[in-house]
Amino acid sequence: MNFIPVNEPLLDGNEKKYLCECIDTGWISSEGPFVKEFEEKMAIRVGRKHGIAVCNGTAALEIAVQALRISTGDEVIMPTFTIISCAEAVIRVGAVPVLVDSDPFTWNMNVDEIEAKITSKTKAIMVVHIYGLPVDMDKVLKLAEKYKLRIIEDAAEMHGQTYKGRPCGSFGDISTFSFYPNKHVTTGEGGMLLTDDDELAKRCRSIRNLCFQKEKRYVHEELSGNYRFTNLQAAVGLAQLERLDEFVERKRHIGMFYTEALSDIDGIQLPIANTDYADNIYWVYGIVLDDRFGINNREMQKRLTDEGIGTRTFFWCMHEQPVLKDMGLFEGEEYPNAERLARRGMYIPSGLALTDEQMENTILKINKVLSMME
Ligand SMILES: Cc1ncc(COP(=O)(O)O)c(C=O)c1O
Repeated sequence: MNFIPVNEPLLDGNEKKYLCECIDTGWISSEGPFVKEFEEKMAIRVGRKHGIAVCNGTAALEIAVQALRISTGDEVIMPTFTIISCAEAVIRVGAVPVLVDSDPFTWNMNVDEIEAKITSKTKAIMVVHIYGLPVDMDKVLKLAEKYKLRIIEDAAEMHGQTYKGRPCGSFGDISTFSFYPNKHVTTGEGGMLLTDDDELAKRCRSIRNLCFQKEKRYVHEELSGNYRFTNLQAAVGLAQLERLDEFVERKRHIGMFYTEALSDIDGIQLPIANTDYADNIYWVYGIVLDDRFGINNREMQKRLTDEGIGTRTFFWCMHEQPVLKDMGLFEGEEYPNAERLARRGMYIPSGLALTDEQMENTILKINKVLSMME
């Protein structure tokens, strides 16, 4: 049986050529010329002034929080339904994540819940675009202006996506991307911060590299880590970025194929194809099982694995994370929509290297597993 992985990247463009150039020239570190070129091209693509490439998307969030001088006792509003990188970046500087529930249909943070969570300690809203559709940004931008809050825009999954025609990644005081291999643009591991603010860009560059000072190199006035990005990663990233439009098109093909094949099945919630502000880019193709199936996403995952289909369960909510609860966070808090997604949601093979034949096979196996439950 040929196992169909949940994700496989597509690396058959100029990746090898540019990587060979790194080897031939000896430029493999963060000082190499591809890094700057990749930063510039990403910034142009997203319509920003500065791009700062770093070692992964989690690091980008950590740097964003530090660069904005968010610190002890400050509060940052974010969705509970997200990856732990968001909460971790806030907690590590002594600040507090404040959560909101999900919209049950777009799976993004419910922006109508944000205002009630704003206090005198709130410093920022961390917007996270989840799985393929952007957050409804107009409402967030209005709140940020009204209460003088910063926006950190986690666009890790949103390469090539737009909100009302404007690129995702262009909305935050600082916006971030990830280039993990399941992203539309991958560099193996990697991330980027984007901003229009010259001072913030300078701070991000400094934090990326141990806060070395220009004049007194080994004298430090602020602590940070080494978050640098290599020329080898940038080589792959440049080749990937050249094909971003093609990749978005392919993902939309995958999304539409699955939606057509699954829409007749009663009791499975599918991703929304479009809202009045964006068309889905299907970063991953998620499905949410109806309660009546009697099995949760982990059991469904097990059954599909036995049939040779790779899947991944949805995020697990921040307010239900043992490590965060042990810190005394989120006591007694409940977010029913997000909890349902976490227990019932999963995504099926949707990587860029997925073939139509593999998609057909995936659908066959899903139908087989469901028919065995009847
Ligand atoms: C929304 C979101 N933010 C942040 C990250 C973290 O990125 P990385 O895995 O590059 O650290 C991810 C990773 O998939 C993500 O989906």
